[in-house]
Amino acid sequence: MDFNGQVAVVTGGARGIGKAIAEGLAKKGITLVIADISLEQATETSAEVGKLGVKTIAVKLDVSKSDEVTKTFEDVSKEFGRIDILINNAGITRDGLVLRMKEDDWDAVININLKSVFLCSKEAVKIMAKQRYGRVVNIASVVAFMGNPGQANYSASKAGIVGLTKTIAKEYASRGITANVVAPGFITTAMTDALPENVKEEMKRAIPLGRFGTVEDVANAVVFLASPDSGYITGQVVHVNGGMYM
Ligand SMILES: NC(=O)c1ccc[n+]([C@@H]2O[C@H](COP(=O)([O-])OP(=O)(O)OC[C@H]3O[C@@H](n4cnc5c(N)ncnc54)[C@H](O)[C@@H]3O)[C@@H](O)[C@H]2O)c1
Repeated sequence: MDFNGQVAVVTGGARGIGKAIAEGLAKKGITLVIADISLEQATETSAEVGKLGVKTIAVKLDVSKSDEVTKTFEDVSKEFGRIDILINNAGITRDGLVLRMKEDDWDAVININLKSVFLCSKEAVKIMAKQRYGRVVNIASVVAFMGNPGQANYSASKAGIVGLTKTIAKEYASRGITANVVAPGFITTAMTDALPENVKEEMKRAIPLGRFGTVEDVANAVVFLASPDSGYITGQVVHVNGGMYM
């Protein structure tokens, strides 16, 4: 994997899966832009990841706001002169059964999880098309394929990412740009840690590999799809879920 001189933007890169992706890319020597709504956490992560010997910057960005997205990509392009990799990772949940789900919760999740991928990809692809090279990796979820009670908004946003990614893949393949999805299953994070032990045990029984995934399990797949080595793979979904959905 020769990432020589490449620049990556990781949205929601301040913590969790995004942080692990940033670390994975940093280990390959890639210059990193960690774009997150929390500047404080992004700055901390940027300093930490920078210890791996790469240039990193933290940027405050709400991925659902088109003006902020446009400005961020203009700034990154001015600062580094190129963008090779975009990882659309920022995401939220606002769970509730359909009959109780508030319209605001629907809109927030669709805007932050799905509209953001459109906005960020549009800006990145503009730059990548001129370079005739780019890698877009979008983080969806197993629930895009299985559904999940209480997550109508989240499942819809993640399923939307799949259609959007395939369309970007078809529109920009001729410019040397690939676009793929990584769909994680249950990954050990602060969110899943908080679940009661009996619920966790029940979930594990549904996973053939018998354990939750780690953030590194997800990052490993993302780093491969972000690399020059994955050049003949586009419009695909890589499931990182221990076999819970096949
Ligand atoms: N944890 C899991 O089990 C799991 C499973 C499947 C998919 N995913 C997906 O992986 C991605 C990362 O999840 P995570 O578990 O690391 O979550 P997390 O909550 O730990 O991290 C999400 C990051 O996104 C940032 N963010 C939130 N809203 C933002 C906005 N509007 N603009 C910019 N940044 C924003 C947060 O500040 C945070 O740093 C998400 O897209 C999530 O849907 C997670």
